[in-house]
Amino acid sequence: MQHIISIRDFTRQDLDSFLDRAELVERGGFDPRMLEGKILALLFFEPSTRTRMSFASAMARLGGTSISVDSVEASSIAKGETLADTIRVVSGYADAIVLRHPKEGAARLASEFATVPVINAGDGAGQHPSQTILDLYTIRRSMPLDGLEIGLLGDLRYGRTAHSLAHALSLYDVTLHTIAPPGLDLPLSVVHELRRHGMEVVKHGDVGKVIRDLDVLYVTRIQRERFPDSASYYDVASSYRITPDLLEGAREHLIVLHPLPRVDEIDPAVDRTPFARYFEQSRNGIPVRMALLQEVMG
Ligand code: CP
Repeated sequence: MQHIISIRDFTRQDLDSFLDRAELVERGGFDPRMLEGKILALLFFEPSTRTRMSFASAMARLGGTSISVDSVEASSIAKGETLADTIRVVSGYADAIVLRHPKEGAARLASEFATVPVINAGDGAGQHPSQTILDLYTIRRSMPLDGLEIGLLGDLRYGRTAHSLAHALSLYDVTLHTIAPPGLDLPLSVVHELRRHGMEVVKHGDVGKVIRDLDVLYVTRIQRERFPDSASYYDVASSYRITPDLLEGAREHLIVLHPLPRVDEIDPAVDRTPFARYFEQSRNGIPVRMALLQEVMG
């Protein structure tokens, strides 16, 4: 049984193999009845548009069916049931479980009680591995993953997509430039781990100072829901914004990515520039998640 919990569990070879498989799927190299008769349970205890819908769509494209719980309120967790019991029960209803949960470590815990594969669809400020694979896929469609200068901008403290992606990139020959508002830097434990993998990590105070040196700029929103109070959120809200002016002088091949949803950190005028790849990135969730479902259920 293969769970997908954290990018830390993957080797570079594993990631490359997923990317190759997703590429094959995108070219039509898949059996549309491969998962016929299989059921995927989508347990989403935090809001989601992309992850939930793209897993459901990927499952349908492979001939399978999805069942879902879309909030704590709509499940018996609201009546006091533990996550462990929920997972034990849902294991009897489905052939794999996709779980989004507000608490870091929830997917790992779920995998200990599940009798079917568990895919982590985001656990608090922890990890979001399927997002990372589609991020890598989007970059690799434009340029080889080695030898890149990649900027991570935004809430690097609470942003799980940033944590997952940074770990994955440390398996490649990448220099990571981090740019975060005060107090939202990449946790030191993560920086130390990346450096142990041999990655060069350079911290910057202002995206404008580094934009000309980047091949990829990965923007994240401030994770308002993870802040202890609204005052500390408003201290940093709207403290950075990517605009067409800021992108003047950027490398011609720069791509701007964002896991979405965005709030105000990318000016919609950027959408019309050749740098904007975040909607393509969200579309890439389909072949990547089809490849993941093939792996865990095929
Ligand atoms: N990128 C991402 O995880 O989006 P959703 O929260 O809409 O699933």
